[in-house]
Amino acid sequence: MVYWSLVPLLLALPWSQAADSPQQPFTAFKKKTTDLDRAYRILNHHPLIDTHNDFPMILAFEKYGKINDYNITHLDSGHTDIERLRKGRLTGQFWSIYYDCDSADNQLLKAMESIDVTKRMVALYPETFQLVTSSKQFQRAFNKGRIGSMLGMEGGQMIDSSMAALRSFYKLGIRYMTLTHNCHTPWAESCCDPNPPAFEKGLGLTEFGKKIVLEMNRVGMMVDISHVSHATMHAVLNTTRAPVLFSHSSSHALCPIERNVPDEVLKRLYETDGVVMINFYNSFVQCNPDIPATLNDVADHIEHIARVAGRHRVGLGADFDGIERTPEGLEDVSKYPDLFVELIRRGWTDKELVGLAGKNFLRVWRHVEVVRNLLSDELPQESRIDDVIDDEE
Ligand SMILES: *[C@@H]1O[C@H](CO)[C@@H](O)[C@H](O)[C@H]1NC(C)=O
Ligand SMILES: *[C@@H]1O[C@H](CO)[C@@H](O)[C@H](O)[C@H]1NC(C)=O
Ligand SMILES: [Zn+2]
Repeated sequence: MVYWSLVPLLLALPWSQAADSPQQPFTAFKKKTTDLDRAYRILNHHPLIDTHNDFPMILAFEKYGKINDYNITHLDSGHTDIERLRKGRLTGQFWSIYYDCDSADNQLLKAMESIDVTKRMVALYPETFQLVTSSKQFQRAFNKGRIGSMLGMEGGQMIDSSMAALRSFYKLGIRYMTLTHNCHTPWAESCCDPNPPAFEKGLGLTEFGKKIVLEMNRVGMMVDISHVSHATMHAVLNTTRAPVLFSHSSSHALCPIERNVPDEVLKRLYETDGVVMINFYNSFVQCNPDIPATLNDVADHIEHIARVAGRHRVGLGADFDGIERTPEGLEDVSKYPDLFVELIRRGWTDKELVGLAGKNFLRVWRHVEVVRNLLSDELPQESRIDDVIDDEE
């Protein structure tokens, strides 16, 4: 009787514990498991979170927000649909609220349209998606088998240099903002804008830009420094009180373009507990245009960044539906498990893979929430971009 009473207890042990356990005494009696079985076992029991997917751009600006009769269960084009998300074992997605920063259209309005259509997509498929605005909510969505759906805003131009707009976007559910896209903002320098910024080049952030970062820390919005110049990365690291996020960036040491993260910045990630979510884009992971980019190149970038910053500081931000080409082997959202197979072959442990899949990112998100809670007595920033700086006597 005593022994039987232990059975429910044993059954109640979370699967994750079994998967994490370094010792598997029964392995000898089971049929040999393949690397793919192992990848699925990890991803079936632990969150797989990608921090950048541009599918909302298709819904908002190619379909003009007309999604009521657009069934996204199975699509023959693009990189994303529900069947492929499930096959890829994705359980967390930051949907990108993006609009071309070069366009003269109303950026705030475009952001509203993209947020609206993304939330409507989530509501149309309640068995698949669940809107998530905190790390705790993410865990609940995961436990229910839903794809936790978060919003990230790609491009500081969307707040039009307004603290009020920044705070309002937070209330709409935006949980990270990429400080720039490929255009400078009046207060931050982009990686990839051929025009000189409106301020001294190399400064990275103006005084107002620093205040934006501090306000993001206060409200609990992650500071995303993908797309910014290397000077801006350093300026943000000099300013922020919370961890930084690279939502979709690869390694500058392997492919030396300004859009990628240099080792000097990777070496500073420990200062704020930051994380780099690796971008899959062909031109970021394979700099030689004569060589086709492959899954192996992406694995190389993950391993390089992990070697410099630590395996606890990497994750995935593929950029699906935001890139016109994808590497061989990582053609769409159904292929994530294959990347885990490759890293298993390269000797990554289950624990490290659980980190890469989502745990490393969730640590950073929770940390950002803790900083927000610690700053709850601080008053909102009232600075305006055209304020004359007169407080420096
Ligand atoms: C969408 O398509 C799938 C099959 O691809 C079908 O099972 C489902 O019922 C469709 N949903 C709607 C709302 O039409
Ligand atoms: C960051 O801080 C360091 C040390 O104070 C300083 O040397 C560097 O110029 C700063 N970088 C930027 C871009 O502000
Ligand atoms: Zn991008």
